[in-house]
Amino acid sequence: MPSSLALELPRSVVLVGLMGAGKSCIGRRLASRLGVEFHDADAEIEQAAGCSIQDIFEVHGEAAFRDGEKRVIARLLAQPPHVLATGGGAFIDPETRASIAKRGISIWLRADLGLMLQRTARRNNRPLLKRGDPRQILQRLIDERYPVYAQADITVDSVDGPPDLTLARVFAALESYLKSHAVTSAAADRDGA
Ligand code: S3P
Repeated sequence: MPSSLALELPRSVVLVGLMGAGKSCIGRRLASRLGVEFHDADAEIEQAAGCSIQDIFEVHGEAAFRDGEKRVIARLLAQPPHVLATGGGAFIDPETRASIAKRGISIWLRADLGLMLQRTARRNNRPLLKRGDPRQILQRLIDERYPVYAQADITVDSVDGPPDLTLARVFAALESYLKSHAVTSAAADRDGA
């Protein structure tokens, strides 16, 4: 049964964080709990490009991927409130971060290195992790990106265990954020209401 919160979701909920933090897994479940649509930015980029992220990186380069990522997220943020899982680098782009701040509620799913290593090792689909030792790469990204992810509206620790454990934390944090902040709808902001 959809929660009463579904009726009150004024903006899209945007999940940010590093690879393996659980953004897609938790995002899909959160959307279902809220009774809204779920979008996965990486999947939409692949659909728009007609090839995998790995291929985009190999054939067109990372800069082209980042460009597509920025455009896809801007398009999704203009849609009615939904849950959006972003790729790990999206929130690092200042323009994308500003759009998310204006039109969404950002949630940083924070996870520790061991958990992200374990989760990312299950699939071989992340080009950045093929550039060297995944542990060192993830540690470098933690050092570079965590201060930026910390600018998200809400921070939730992604825990090792059944996704419902993290989902419950995300849901509670979102509910409490909405109760304590007067969040206007992105559509009202756009129309100057
Ligand atoms: C990236 C994270 C990936 C994907 C791409 C680049 C990054 O998404 O967008 O491989 O820069 O951290 P996930 O965080 O969903 O794995």
